[in-house]
Amino acid sequence: MVSMVLKPMFLYLSKNKVLNRGAKRWGLKMGAKQVVAGVTIDDAMRTVSELNEKGLVATVDHLGEFITSREEAIESTNYCIETLKAISKTGVTCNLSLKLTQLGLDVERELCYENMRKIVGTAYELGNFVRIDMEDYAHCQQTLDILADLRKEFPNSVGTVIQAYLYRAAEDVSDLQGVNLRLVKGAYKEPSEVAFQDKKDVDDNYLSIIKQHLRSGSYTAIATHDHMIIDKVKSFCEEEGIAKSQFEFQMLYGFRKELQEQIVKEGYTMRVYVPYGTDWYGYFMRRLAERPQNVSFAIRGLLSK
Ligand code: FDA
Repeated sequence: MVSMVLKPMFLYLSKNKVLNRGAKRWGLKMGAKQVVAGVTIDDAMRTVSELNEKGLVATVDHLGEFITSREEAIESTNYCIETLKAISKTGVTCNLSLKLTQLGLDVERELCYENMRKIVGTAYELGNFVRIDMEDYAHCQQTLDILADLRKEFPNSVGTVIQAYLYRAAEDVSDLQGVNLRLVKGAYKEPSEVAFQDKKDVDDNYLSIIKQHLRSGSYTAIATHDHMIIDKVKSFCEEEGIAKSQFEFQMLYGFRKELQEQIVKEGYTMRVYVPYGTDWYGYFMRRLAERPQNVSFAIRGLLSK
């Protein structure tokens, strides 16, 4: 009941441009540091290094919201390249996650593609990997098209995400055999024309596409905080003799830390998604919307200031 009020409220707040812009000047506030690594590349590298010490690997994301100009898209591209260089310099075990709208997808497709070529080219040279996060349905086909073009040049340096709530997910997974995919339930509000609305249908399809990609021998990243799904994946892989090196689990920074460490102790790879940057506000509000119980982060953060 409470979440029915809080969820839309946090989603609404996440889109508020005035608050998003204001937050850039505040530094991390309202408990955001529980789920955001900091505002600088050094903050991110420090956090990743601490995770590595515990046996966790990572993927970093330089946060960015509302990119509407070429200049902003190029600035964001430069941050991604600098982040890849910092990963290489510090020697941490970490790759890069990004969103195509941050690189100008809504400004001009060609600009976005050229920005991606520079970033993935850098990752290739440094022996690293770039994951294209999947955004809302309106950007889905464009994302898959850009991935296909990039893979012609850099087949093993880039992958993307498939969302189980979309009806098209199984077909996309089948088209992307051999590609390193992150599989998720899906985070956006999509209509019934394109996406399952019922949680059980989403969970069933999620498990089904995970099995499909694993059975095809493809590397699979299972990104979920859902222990039921994680347990089912572990059992499935044991039954089918799928090696632990063919898949990894992923969770967001600051969520279910004990479970993350437990999974590492069991010998699985656990990759933590580590966001950083001054544009933390929208990301933080979306996490509160996803799981309003996390509002305790915000309350604790407010009380500690
Ligand atoms: P869900 O929210 O369905 O929860 C299932 C159950 O798990 C809960 O009922 C509860 O029992 C337990 N649980 C969940 N969270 C918990 C917590 N914090 N503490 C205790 N118990 C908890 N989406 C997208 O559209 N595009 C993308 O690119 C990505 N990328 C991405 C990367 C990574 C690393 C992650 C972890 C997630 C994403 N997502 C995403 C988000 C994803 O689509 C999804 O919205 C969220 O992960 C929430 O769904 P879950 O699968 O975690 O479980």
